[in-house]
Amino acid sequence: MIYDEISIKSLIRPVPDFPRPGVIFRDITPLFQSPRILRLVADSFIQRYVETDFSHIGAMDARGFLIGSIIAYELNKPLILFRKQGKLPADVLSEGYQTEYGEALLEVHSDSLCEGDKVLIFDDLIATGGTLMAAARLVRRMGASVFEAAAIIDLPELGGSQRLEDAGIPTFSLTAFS
Ligand code: PRP
Ligand code: ADE
Repeated sequence: MIYDEISIKSLIRPVPDFPRPGVIFRDITPLFQSPRILRLVADSFIQRYVETDFSHIGAMDARGFLIGSIIAYELNKPLILFRKQGKLPADVLSEGYQTEYGEALLEVHSDSLCEGDKVLIFDDLIATGGTLMAAARLVRRMGASVFEAAAIIDLPELGGSQRLEDAGIPTFSLTAFS
């Protein structure tokens, strides 16, 4: 395994009480400021998925785009953008969801996937799992399936990774905070 969990963890900054009291925000900006550690993160995902059989990468707005697009480029896979409400210009499918600190709508272009496509869905972090569960529902509405849900960080106490597993979605993360 390429990844060095201690180095990755040391570049994820905890910010208490953001965006509201009681939340410890896990800030990935220091990690993206280190080319060496960013490469380690990307290479860890690439090593995991290079020999696997999936057709598309789906990346979550906005922080999921950062790592999802690197992996799509390296593995030469089509990239599908799952965006917050009102950002995509053509016909969309929408799903509502709740997160650790709010409610939102996730959208995808309705012609992004076809029956039989297998999608690796990517985000920076799994908290309640609301975002990735909404993405999985959108994938399934287009007749495609979810290959795996992947993130840099899991917050297992918020139950999202378990929720995804319970819904039949294999889940992978590089590190976790409890
Ligand atoms: C954060 C994070 C994940 C999501 C995880 O995004 O980047 O997408 O929350 O939470 P969940 O597992 O409870 O759904 P946020 O909605 O804050 O948007 P951003 O990426 O635009 O900052
Ligand atoms: N998204 C949802 N919960 C989060 C947290 N605690 N830190 C960073 N992003 C988040």
